[in-house]
Amino acid sequence: MASKVTVKAPSSTANLGPGFDVFGLAVDAFFDEVTLTKKKEKGITIISADNIPTNPEQNTAGLVVKNMIKKFKTKDGIEIKIKKGVPAGFGMGSSAASAAAAAVAFNKLYNLKLDDNSLVEFAGSGEKASAGSVHYDNVAAAVLGGFVIVRTNPLSVIKIEPPTNLRMCIAVPKLQVPKKKTKVSRGVIPKKVKLTDSVLNLSNAACIVTGFIKKDPGLIGSSIKDVIVEPARKHMIPGFSRVKENALKAGAEGVTISGAGPSVIAFSKSSADLKKISGAMSRGFSSAKTKCQTIICKPSKGAISKIK
Ligand code: HSE
Repeated sequence: MASKVTVKAPSSTANLGPGFDVFGLAVDAFFDEVTLTKKKEKGITIISADNIPTNPEQNTAGLVVKNMIKKFKTKDGIEIKIKKGVPAGFGMGSSAASAAAAAVAFNKLYNLKLDDNSLVEFAGSGEKASAGSVHYDNVAAAVLGGFVIVRTNPLSVIKIEPPTNLRMCIAVPKLQVPKKKTKVSRGVIPKKVKLTDSVLNLSNAACIVTGFIKKDPGLIGSSIKDVIVEPARKHMIPGFSRVKENALKAGAEGVTISGAGPSVIAFSKSSADLKKISGAMSRGFSSAKTKCQTIICKPSKGAISKIK
């Protein structure tokens, strides 16, 4: 059995508009790398050059490892080394990437042969450290890659290979995000929704799934319409409406908030002018006196162990 395993996990975008807490897509914009090493001394030690919590209870990877040690009654101490590539707090699945990498690495380290649903469940348990509650959309995408649909009670995840000509332009605004941002942005969502809004979101969500099955980026993009969560959150993103309008005018098929925000994501075909779309998004943020980083990316594979 290995004594050290390194796993790389991708960033992800959750919701894709109407699929709140249900849809996730792994994107190759950023990656986290987590190395687990067995140690003689008991306990969990977290090492990172990045500005992240090193208390295992408050660190997504730490919490995953703690839960897995408890569940599988392993005796070693574990050192967790985390290299952050995914910016934290911007709706790019940063906490999920570390959590997914930790779950996949622990599985490999102890040769547990866990199935996909169990890996996603353990990875999701880490989300509590940052979101305050468990949601599986980002972790499922980061573990499995591609487009995922999450069913809960009981948890089961369905993966669909995205079309090869699907592209995303992501604008990450340079904003001061609140600590525990996901918890804050989950707090603004209405507790009750109108039936007509639910029908609209459901029909669009069904079309997104169909778009992935039919490998049709046009159908995916044109169905990225959310009348429930996006309207409740968009006030938290300066210039959101302009960013969206600009991207659509520049040829994007659909635009929405990436996960809990504040990044904005545009879905397009690879044949679109992706630089034009990114520039248009950037100008949208400028109109609200906000700078942003833009990234053009593709769907990604899931978490990969560096030891085969
Ligand atoms: N579905 C979650 C939310 C994703 O929108 O709150 C958080 O990254």
